[in-house]
Amino acid sequence: MATYAIWNNKGGVGKSYLTFQLASEYALQHPNKKVLVVDLCPQANSSSMLLGGMVDGEKILDTIHGQPSRKTISGYINDRSRSPYVSTKSGADYITQVSQYNDKVPSNVYLVVGDEKLELQSSQVSYQADPRGYDDAWRIVHLWITDLISDIKYSWNNEDCCVFIDCNPSFSIYTELALTAADRLLIPFSADGSSKRAVKAVLSLVYGQRRQSNDTQSEFYIETARNKMSLPEIYMYIGNRLTQMNNSSASAFKTVVNEISDEIYSAWQSSDTPFCVHPFGTPKPNNKKSFKNMFQFEVNDANTASVVSGAQGIPIGILTAGQRIVAGIKITVNQSQLDRQVPNLRDLVRRIE
Ligand SMILES: Nc1ncnc2c1ncn2[C@@H]1O[C@H](COP(=O)(O)OP(=O)(O)OP(=O)(O)O)[C@@H](O)[C@H]1O
Ligand SMILES: [Mg+2]
Repeated sequence: MATYAIWNNKGGVGKSYLTFQLASEYALQHPNKKVLVVDLCPQANSSSMLLGGMVDGEKILDTIHGQPSRKTISGYINDRSRSPYVSTKSGADYITQVSQYNDKVPSNVYLVVGDEKLELQSSQVSYQADPRGYDDAWRIVHLWITDLISDIKYSWNNEDCCVFIDCNPSFSIYTELALTAADRLLIPFSADGSSKRAVKAVLSLVYGQRRQSNDTQSEFYIETARNKMSLPEIYMYIGNRLTQMNNSSASAFKTVVNEISDEIYSAWQSSDTPFCVHPFGTPKPNNKKSFKNMFQFEVNDANTASVVSGAQGIPIGILTAGQRIVAGIKITVNQSQLDRQVPNLRDLVRRIE
């Protein structure tokens, strides 16, 4: 019954794409389990893909956003803003069964739809979390998404389910709420210099890692500790689209991947507390190789297959080779592109407990 946040402090690394693919593939592999996606990014990209992609998904999003009482994450945040310090127990009012709109997604996938209004709500949420207004405000407001998920689980009679939270790259208040709600963290990264900086930022913002002894730590880290709340454990760091470049760039990328891996390994060496050793019952890794085997993963680039998958809201695991029309343009999906990513993603999902 784990809750996974998919976050990196960098944009465009594949958080939403992976949320869409992981949730769909997890649902296919576990047809008797419910899968919940909470879209905590105001861009609502994973919602758009789940609901049918660039054309159909966007239309459905417009319809949902156009309703007076929004059945979206913002509708829930609105509820909580009216009752910030007492749970409204209303989380289950905000779920959408994805297959009602997009029959390509398995019927056991549910979504709390993303909403651009979240951006407008964030200053109000920060205000309500300010302990200068009410002593316990920080803790209670940071539990809003935890409450949302537990309301939904309760409405499902607490049966076994898996939750994925798609996050915005910024370390905003709603990202903090997502991280508080998550038990585990998946960190996608791409192979470039700024990804390395972003991974360092994750380690410092969430886990309080200091570069210099006088570095200040994030309020999130300090308040989480002061309130004795838990942080998500690092489950995996996922190199995404590492193979998109040609061979001559490949070795340069390898260097970046190794540097990111070294960074996370050195965090592990200084403290293994923020890591989730898995699968359950496995001994802790005792060297770099076994550490990488457990925590590092690479997802290949699927090229036009991923464009079609995202644009038409067809999980890549069920996409077939052939020609498709996307936004009026003929696009070919080759079997070789599918072969590059599909087994890869299936393998990743098999490692998600
Ligand atoms: N493995 C992959 N193969 C091919 N394309 C991919 C892959 N992963 C992501 N993409 C594409 O890369 C682009 C960026 O991905 P995505 O929007 O998921 O990133 P993000 O981290 O969610 O971005 P943001 O920070 O803006 O929310 C998208 O067009 C997506 O379809
Ligand atoms: Mg995104």
